[in-house]
Amino acid sequence: MEMTVETLTDRPETEGLGPRFMREEEEAAVRELFTVCHPTWPDKPPQWWLCHPTLVLAEGDRIIGSTSFSLSIAATPELSHYGDDVLYGHDLCVHPDARGRGLGLRLARARHDLGRALGVTLFLGMTWRENTAMIRIFDQLGCWRHATLPDAYPTEPSREGLVYIAGLKSRPVPVSDDGTTKGA
Ligand SMILES: CC(C)(COP(=O)(O)OP(=O)(O)OC[C@H]1O[C@@H](n2cnc3c(N)ncnc32)[C@H](O)[C@@H]1OP(=O)(O)O)[C@@H](O)C(=O)NCCC(=O)NCCS
Repeated sequence: MEMTVETLTDRPETEGLGPRFMREEEEAAVRELFTVCHPTWPDKPPQWWLCHPTLVLAEGDRIIGSTSFSLSIAATPELSHYGDDVLYGHDLCVHPDARGRGLGLRLARARHDLGRALGVTLFLGMTWRENTAMIRIFDQLGCWRHATLPDAYPTEPSREGLVYIAGLKSRPVPVSDDGTTKGA
């Protein structure tokens, strides 16, 4: 079966927006959206979005949402029981005009769906403490706070990165007595 994100995520509420894979000619618009969403972050290298699988939401000709990911190997021996492949989420951007309509969650869910379809068993993502919307999205996707990385976000107020993980198949997540996942 040909695997497309449309076949994985098509739902009535999609209303033609997507998510779908970015087209090559849309890279500049996705880069612009990234700059609008993260005005204090450094730009990414040329062709970065062409080198990472990227999903977009498009309203007419306008890209209003995007997210990318990498497939990599488990970061630690402790996480490797999920299997070799990890889907590492790179950012999630929704244009300020389009926020609060559930589009961020839709993109993030499509990313998880795609990972599942690829047989990946672990999602890994990161945000910072003040990013309430992103933390809410991780919560809604069933993610767990796994670890904290100091200085992962030098331009954000709290600087530290909150690492979230989710099992993409129904494997148990190892949880410590204090309710965090092991390694937190
Ligand atoms: C994070 C982001 C993608 C969310 O996009 P969005 O389309 O507004 O998100 P949704 O509409 O799907 O909302 C997701 C949840 O967050 C909540 N939320 C959205 N904005 C919020 C805010 N400013 N404060 C608190 N909660 C918020 C929503 O109410 C929703 O929760 P609910 O289902 O319980 O109501 C968007 O704010 C963004 O692009 N931010 C800048 C880039 C960024 O920080 N990306 C993440 C980097 S790790």
